[in-house]
Amino acid sequence: MSEDLNIITGTKEEQYQSLVPQISGLLNGEPDLIANLANVAAALKEQFGWFWVGFYLVKNDELVLGPFQGPVACTRIRKGRGVCGTSWQKKETIIVPDVEAFPGHIACSSLSKSEIVVPLFNNGKVVGVLDVDSAEYDQFDKTDQQFLEKIVALIPF
Ligand code: SME
Repeated sequence: MSEDLNIITGTKEEQYQSLVPQISGLLNGEPDLIANLANVAAALKEQFGWFWVGFYLVKNDELVLGPFQGPVACTRIRKGRGVCGTSWQKKETIIVPDVEAFPGHIACSSLSKSEIVVPLFNNGKVVGVLDVDSAEYDQFDKTDQQFLEKIVALIPF
């Protein structure tokens, strides 16, 4: 697989349809978690241009910042705190159309307006989360949920 990503225009669904096999190719045969998370974050950021795309990993009962693309971010998040900690606790994807309306939202940047957080599972346990932030309100929906869940399921642990 070449390391160049083929960036396309089109509907959100078309963009994901183009991206998923490319991400699968990037991950294929590579067991290193950090390398894989770094490339997934970069691929999503490159295709969609979101404000912030990155991973937090569960370490000693906290989420700790992992590979990401975008401005510097909070390094540690406790279970049940913010959108990320809530997604971890509930073991489910959370879509937030307006971050200011989410109780306990952790504002790493005041420029972030909407957010989706997708848990990463290994043997039924949450081992981390994918966090995507947009600088515009109401940018994430069921299509993002469906494809981002599919993408994180491709990452080998
Ligand atoms: N807003 C997140 C924190 C992480 S940053 O957005 C990168 C939250 O409430 O969990």
